[in-house]
Amino acid sequence: MLSYRHAFHAGNFADVLKHLVLDRILAHLAKKDKPFFCLDTHAGAGGYSLTGDHARKNSEFEDGIGRLWTRDDLPAALADYLAAVREFNPSGRLQAYPGSPFFERRWLRAGDRLVLCELHPADLVRLKSFVDQDRRIKVVRNDGFHECIALMPPRERRGLVLIDPSYEIKTDYRRAIETLTGACRRFETGIFALWYPVIERRRIDSLEQALGQSGIPRIQLFELGVEPDARARGMTASGMIVINPPWTLRGEMETALPCLADALGRDGGGHYRMFELTGEHG
Ligand SMILES: C[S@@+](CC[C@H](N)C(=O)[O-])C[C@H]1O[C@@H](n2cnc3c(N)ncnc32)[C@H](O)[C@@H]1O
Repeated sequence: MLSYRHAFHAGNFADVLKHLVLDRILAHLAKKDKPFFCLDTHAGAGGYSLTGDHARKNSEFEDGIGRLWTRDDLPAALADYLAAVREFNPSGRLQAYPGSPFFERRWLRAGDRLVLCELHPADLVRLKSFVDQDRRIKVVRNDGFHECIALMPPRERRGLVLIDPSYEIKTDYRRAIETLTGACRRFETGIFALWYPVIERRRIDSLEQALGQSGIPRIQLFELGVEPDARARGMTASGMIVINPPWTLRGEMETALPCLADALGRDGGGHYRMFELTGEHG
């Protein structure tokens, strides 16, 4: 039984990094006329209220999107991400936070396709209502890891897969690596983005080691931390591991990450990492 609900965490510092990277990759895909395919293996509900009990329980969004909401001096990549969040809040007040399907739908053109996988019954209902009658988007009630293998390669031969597990089941770490390895073999030119939380640093060291030795070429890692690893319990940092990143992403993140570390770090404890996990030849 799944108990994780993203509504408790929507808009926190981890969502900011994840959705910034997602937004930049999609912007790059939408630059070319050719259609693209996007798969979101763990889609969530599509959007979240920030005024309800779930978001208010720990008010995680206040130390994430809340710290950026009124800024008008952000670097271009972050300003575009913030524009998307503002689109989701037409009242002009920060009352809701968009999920990954919103960022994905925002870049879809007439010929592009989006597949969203979600297993939680309540989030699935919300997700279907979010998608409504949009014929470019398909919602699948199935295991996202399984779909990630089954749908590769997409007929468009260009696109993005976002893998954003909750890691409430510890086997998610192993499955993420197995899925990436299998899916990359089937869709060598595809862009894959895996989100990870830093709760126990040694788990992420193992994840990096496994992917570094996987034979998959062109992997970059982008991580944002808000406190030193050892100081606190819970998530102190999170990252995105991107396979076949657009050539523009590194430059955008070189400007955005220091700015985020400064804005979202707690008591000056913000930090970031950005490096190539594997190069051109794996
Ligand atoms: C971290 S949340 C997703 C957040 C969303 N991607 C976003 O950025 O707005 C993870 C979601 O995956 C769902 N889930 C968990 N295991 C899954 C699986 N094996 N396949 C598909 N969805 C799953 C959970 O119910 C939860 O809604």
